[in-house]
Amino acid sequence: MNKVQQKYQPIGIFDSGYGGLTILKSIMQRLPQYDYIYLGDNARTPYGSRSFDVVYDYTRQAVVTLFSMDCQLVILACNTASAKALRTIQQNDLLTGFPERRVLGVIRPSVEQIPLFTKTGHIGVLGTSGTVLSDSYPMEIAKVSGNHLVVTQEACPMWVPLVENDETDNKAADYFVHKNITNLFRRDPEIDTLILGCTHYPLLRKTIDKFLPAHVTVLEQGPIVAESLSDYLNRHPEMDQKCSKNGSVRYITTESVDNFEPRASLFMGNPLVAEKIQF
Ligand code: DGL
Repeated sequence: MNKVQQKYQPIGIFDSGYGGLTILKSIMQRLPQYDYIYLGDNARTPYGSRSFDVVYDYTRQAVVTLFSMDCQLVILACNTASAKALRTIQQNDLLTGFPERRVLGVIRPSVEQIPLFTKTGHIGVLGTSGTVLSDSYPMEIAKVSGNHLVVTQEACPMWVPLVENDETDNKAADYFVHKNITNLFRRDPEIDTLILGCTHYPLLRKTIDKFLPAHVTVLEQGPIVAESLSDYLNRHPEMDQKCSKNGSVRYITTESVDNFEPRASLFMGNPLVAEKIQF
């Protein structure tokens, strides 16, 4: 019997810029059989200092664009978008316009890992100003683990621009990373578990490790989100069946492809071709 040709219905992965590539890479390693579309809104990055309404608006545009490309499932591979837009998209936009589609974020799966690692019960969260001000991490941590964990957050507004501008391994990066990490541990020296609550931050990992106390466990979101997606698809066979499986990936950016391709190739570890779109 001939196998029925499955419709191309990729999983959409969205970030404000390059950071979500750290999530895409882990997802493709864990689940290589699926098709993916990566969308980076590089023309409007960073989102971290933008208002609630603007982040929601930009994120909704990206999600609708990915839906129009037949994505049935979209991952917001961006903490700022997960913090400021996910709930409204899930509760309003999906219900009213796209009841069969799903959008998932990166905050909940990260928070679920915390109890496996902390011994002191003191958690540090590094994120953009938007993520920190939204208090999404303390709220989700309280929902998952109750109120007994102590959560200290530090906004790192310069870190995303360092990554977006390829300034991750120099004195400027040392200065800002050292400053924010020192602030965080000065405010709570008992932190033993640290969430990198921005998908750009793994690209600064070498510099971060230079200044971190040795006993601290760092939770990096790529592998956590990849595992959680695999679990989600196992628990939702109806969605799994809709996601096509040819092992392909397409890259889309709102910036010029001449800017995007070389940097994204570097992050992904192989040459890649991107397409430019406008919302
Ligand atoms: N990667 C995004 C995040 O996880 C960066 C946000 C930004 O554009 O400032 O929050």
